[in-house]
Amino acid sequence: MIHEPVMKKEVLNYLINDPEGLYLDCTVGTGGHSLAILQSNQDTRVIGIDRDQEALEIAKERTGEYAPRIEFFLGNFRDAGEYLRGRRCDGFLLDLGLSSYQLSDESRGFSYMKDGPLDMAMGSGSRSVAGFITSAEMSSIKEVLREFGEVRKPGRIARRIIEERERGSIERTFQLKEIIEGVVPPHRVYGTLSRVFQALRIWANRELESLDDFLRHSLDLLNSGGRMVIISYHSLEDRMVKTFFREKEKGCICPPDFPVCSCGREPELRIITRRPVLPSGDEIAANSRSRSAKLRAAERI
Ligand SMILES: C[S@@+](CC[C@H](N)C(=O)[O-])C[C@H]1O[C@@H](n2cnc3c(N)ncnc32)[C@H](O)[C@@H]1O
Repeated sequence: MIHEPVMKKEVLNYLINDPEGLYLDCTVGTGGHSLAILQSNQDTRVIGIDRDQEALEIAKERTGEYAPRIEFFLGNFRDAGEYLRGRRCDGFLLDLGLSSYQLSDESRGFSYMKDGPLDMAMGSGSRSVAGFITSAEMSSIKEVLREFGEVRKPGRIARRIIEERERGSIERTFQLKEIIEGVVPPHRVYGTLSRVFQALRIWANRELESLDDFLRHSLDLLNSGGRMVIISYHSLEDRMVKTFFREKEKGCICPPDFPVCSCGREPELRIITRRPVLPSGDEIAANSRSRSAKLRAAERI
């Protein structure tokens, strides 16, 4: 299944400041946003990165017509500097999370709607969810569910996992689904399943660590006037982006009670979107997976 790019018009509007620029699509997926960037101007160039080899192959095929203007790299966007090989770019796009392509493939184990192995690896370097569920301490399971999924009463689910695994290994998505159905009231089952699966996926793929690493060196890779556009689907990710933008906009990191600045840091970013941009009602109606998206954009000074 091809992923429908979220807020495509808004992405082009905020990202493209130089029609002849070089843009890094850090989460190229099946190539929807990259294709739109390439089609927006005949001179725009793109570097597309993704951890997922299969998605990258589809993106290559879809953008074949524009091959001279796009390069692809299989890898983690935390290593974006390596792929730029000493160059700077004019914009970054990060469209975080999972693509519909990954979600729809039951052999990847991302969805509770289909039975499959409890895998959830986006690419190499991911941790094993089945291994975690099978061997982690109850306190660690509880912590992952609470921190990455904001799951209500995660202790109940963690305890039931521990009880069930004494009877046999838990290796399939439907086994985990049944455990959750057994402890959560019926009207909360689907909401809880989404949160539990999201939490395990974020943990397995170290998603927040990758974003944190990327943000820390991102500005060294961006030309002045270059744009950062980040779409997140999780409150922790959105908070990380918001905090980073605000710190870089402020510059000075002296304590508030210092009479004069002694750190000498200058602002490095101008925030373009004071509040996160959300998909329109029409977009949500046409593509329900866009409903939790929040877009933030800033410009390198
Ligand atoms: C929401 S999809 C992007 C969809 C894409 N914008 C499109 O239009 O098709 C997110 C993609 O980011 C990739 N991804 C997530 N974390 C990554 C990371 N740290 N490094 C590289 N790719 C990552 C996933 O494999 C997935 O393909």
